[in-house]
Amino acid sequence: MATPNRMITLAARPVGFPKDSDFKLVESPQPTPKEGEFLVRIIYMSVDPYMRGRMNDAASYAAPVQLGEVMGGGAVGKVISSNNNNFPEGTIVEGPFGWQEYAVSSGQGVRKIDPKLAPISTALGVLGMPGLTAYFGLLDICNPQPGETVVVSGAAGAVGSLVGQIAKIKGCRAIGIAGADDKVAYLTDELGFDAAFNYKTVTDYYKKLKELCPKGIDVYFDNVGGPITDAVFGLINTKARVSICGQISQYNLEQPEMGPRIILVSLLVKQAKAEGFLVFQYANRYAEGLKQMAEWILQGKLKYREDIEHGIENAPRAFMEMLKGRNTGKQLVKLSEE
Ligand SMILES: NC(=O)c1ccc[n+]([C@@H]2O[C@H](COP(=O)([O-])OP(=O)(O)OC[C@H]3O[C@@H](n4cnc5c(N)ncnc54)[C@H](OP(=O)(O)O)[C@@H]3O)[C@@H](O)[C@H]2O)c1
Repeated sequence: MATPNRMITLAARPVGFPKDSDFKLVESPQPTPKEGEFLVRIIYMSVDPYMRGRMNDAASYAAPVQLGEVMGGGAVGKVISSNNNNFPEGTIVEGPFGWQEYAVSSGQGVRKIDPKLAPISTALGVLGMPGLTAYFGLLDICNPQPGETVVVSGAAGAVGSLVGQIAKIKGCRAIGIAGADDKVAYLTDELGFDAAFNYKTVTDYYKKLKELCPKGIDVYFDNVGGPITDAVFGLINTKARVSICGQISQYNLEQPEMGPRIILVSLLVKQAKAEGFLVFQYANRYAEGLKQMAEWILQGKLKYREDIEHGIENAPRAFMEMLKGRNTGKQLVKLSEE
């Protein structure tokens, strides 16, 4: 008999921060691919902040996960049986396979991964959605120039750790904000950020940023929102560019936080630009972004780290711990051997 398929479904919609009982581990028979389909054994699955939004019953850019449905998300795996000539047995693939050990696919939204080019896990991180987010969100939205000061929040995470390094490649000063002393040390000692600070121990963000950015802030890559972003806006320079990538400090709040209203005044007075973006809007330029990121890795200019949890039963914990900041770099869950 085939190994059963274990998966994590949405058991309840979280109120505030998610908890164990919002998820359910379910076992079902392994799915069988029909004509034109193939079966994937998942090796790595991704847990990402955007998944918190999908757990709500609220309209967004993507439909919410329904109660009882498998949690959605990107994963990398190996085709183990196939009725689709484009994806023969043995092919390594990345696609929207969800939080489960086996998935059937028609190939829609699936890309082939060459395991000789890079570790296959990178297709979910530096050479996948987070890497593309850093690349386009910084370069396309902010156009950073040599000598400019670039501040990034959520700096030690999957996206943020790449943003600061890309800023350095472009000749900028990179300043990171992260939530632990070891993350701050990682940014400055290993990734080459010019400075960084721990927002959980520093109380006056404005004062700290002023000290670290004596010439003001030209570019801000915002992963977190909230009080950190409020402080940054007080220091932006004329013609500053702000990339609104994420607002993770707000994702688990039951009521939206009411902030100071200086943000819009700062934009006005500094004739600055703040622009939100979704990485999907760059889909027709992914090849360009992936090629450049891969080149920078090969040249030793771009480093990445992965935080790997094991076992489908631990996926909810990995997700919740990532939301709390346990991860450095990209949080993944390994479900089977390569
Ligand atoms: N626009 C897009 O298309 C797009 C695509 C991908 C990701 N994103 C966004 O980019 C951001 C980063 O995503 P990621 O995948 O790279 O995740 P990540 O940074 O690897 O993980 C999330 C991090 O958020 C930080 N965090 C949690 N609560 C926080 C709070 N209250 N204040 C400040 N930081 C907090 C934690 O680090 P600390 O230890 O530093 O707190 C945690 O490690 C998220 O906001 C995500 O939604 C947007």
